[in-house]
Amino acid sequence: MKRVLVDMSATIIHHGHTRLLKKASEYGEVIVGLTTDEEIRAKKGYEPELNYEQRKEILESIKYVKEVVPTSWLIDEDVLKKYDIDLLVHGDDNSNKIDKKKLLIFPRTKGVSSTSIRQKVMQAYAEKKSRNILLNPGPATTTASVKLSQIVDDICPREKEFGDLMEWTSNELTSIAADTKDYTTVLFGGSGTAAVEAMLTSIVPYNKSLLIVNNGAYGKRMCQIAKRFDIDFIEFQSSPIEPIDMIKLEETVKENKNISHLAVIHNETTTGLLNNLDDLGKLAKKYDLELIVDAMSSYAAIPIDMNKQNISYLAASSNKNIQGMAGVGFVIAKKSSLENLKEIKPRSFYLSLYEQYTNFIKTHQMRFTPPVQTMYALKQAIVEAKKEGIENRYKRYSSSWETLTNGLRELKLKYLVDDEHHSKIITSIFIPKGVDFDDMHDYFYKKGFTIYPGKVAEFNTFRIANIGDIDHQDIESFLILLEKYLHETR
Ligand SMILES: Cc1ncc(COP(=O)(O)O)c(C=O)c1O
Repeated sequence: MKRVLVDMSATIIHHGHTRLLKKASEYGEVIVGLTTDEEIRAKKGYEPELNYEQRKEILESIKYVKEVVPTSWLIDEDVLKKYDIDLLVHGDDNSNKIDKKKLLIFPRTKGVSSTSIRQKVMQAYAEKKSRNILLNPGPATTTASVKLSQIVDDICPREKEFGDLMEWTSNELTSIAADTKDYTTVLFGGSGTAAVEAMLTSIVPYNKSLLIVNNGAYGKRMCQIAKRFDIDFIEFQSSPIEPIDMIKLEETVKENKNISHLAVIHNETTTGLLNNLDDLGKLAKKYDLELIVDAMSSYAAIPIDMNKQNISYLAASSNKNIQGMAGVGFVIAKKSSLENLKEIKPRSFYLSLYEQYTNFIKTHQMRFTPPVQTMYALKQAIVEAKKEGIENRYKRYSSSWETLTNGLRELKLKYLVDDEHHSKIITSIFIPKGVDFDDMHDYFYKKGFTIYPGKVAEFNTFRIANIGDIDHQDIESFLILLEKYLHETR
């Protein structure tokens, strides 16, 4: 009887293996050449889930198998001689260098491999985990595939391969809001505030003034940054729930001839008030100002066209509507505006927009260590955002928002900003009498929903964001719980 060697590593044993062994047994008695643990570590780069002895024990109990012998990754003539083998059976991915007359190639069983089983297990694990519904305004709920994309081989970010990833990311992020011919994205390791701080501290010339519209906590934060860095700024205070009075804003511009830049928040995350970029862009154009936009909670959901809307600089981050992980803040900017920054001494060492920009052109690298795994998650998030399309993403978010606000009306709960000026992304809701936010938070948290406190001092509110990998059904589940909670507590 012929002795037939079937070589395999069988780290996760499945029906593809047994079918192969059965077929091989039709040619003689089957000897399994089982790859040793050392070889798997060295050639495949991972620890086998089952060690050699365990794999051997399983294989020996299969009726088609006569014997199991240890082999290295590749089989050569010496191995055949050592075990007195007549034929070697292998799948159609054979790279064993042996005489063709002794080789039998069988196609692999379709749809199964140890690798695909491993991926399925990881996917199921990540999906189970991902069902925490984040109703806070970012970091948002992410897809299982975004979570899994962070599990990558270790890589030094100074390698060209990583530089290529960053260049691709920069281009793709730009194309969501502008034309890559005239605009580019400067990436920083840091949260969204890092991007805002990089803009403000790099852009305003020392002999010029910055006009900041403050109609919420994030407009106020821009004022705090300007103050901290001694940037000459004018604070234009505006209602946190009503649209900006554009006539008054224009008067302020006219009265202050030294203003060179106008800074605004697009979607004030404090309330969900959506500032009108078309109007602000027109005003900036009329008075030859550069418009700076913090689009942290609108970018990649509400369509933005930087060129049409006359926006010179826009800040956003990796963990809100783009649906990636936290850790990258970025500034999308007009290349011609960035070039002009050469003349302005940066106020910050780390967050120097011009130096980060010029260094990236030369090297495709951030100046300092980037958040490596976050960059891989961002890549996957961009792929998924493009697949869904920004307009469709906003439709999905809007549909969740309609579900939310209809539900609130049924529960007789009121929210701060009129629908007409609402971003449909985050809603600031009045807390009804007799309800304690912390208690409500803990109730929802235990049930897998994270809700968020309000941020406007004069109103007792809580916030619900409808961004991330969630949809109107998740909002419906939240509303059912909310009704139950209010019924139990009031
Ligand atoms: C409009 C706006 N700007 C800035 C930030 C600050 O971002 P980060 O918390 O990532 O620093 C946020 C965060 O929610 C925001 O909504």
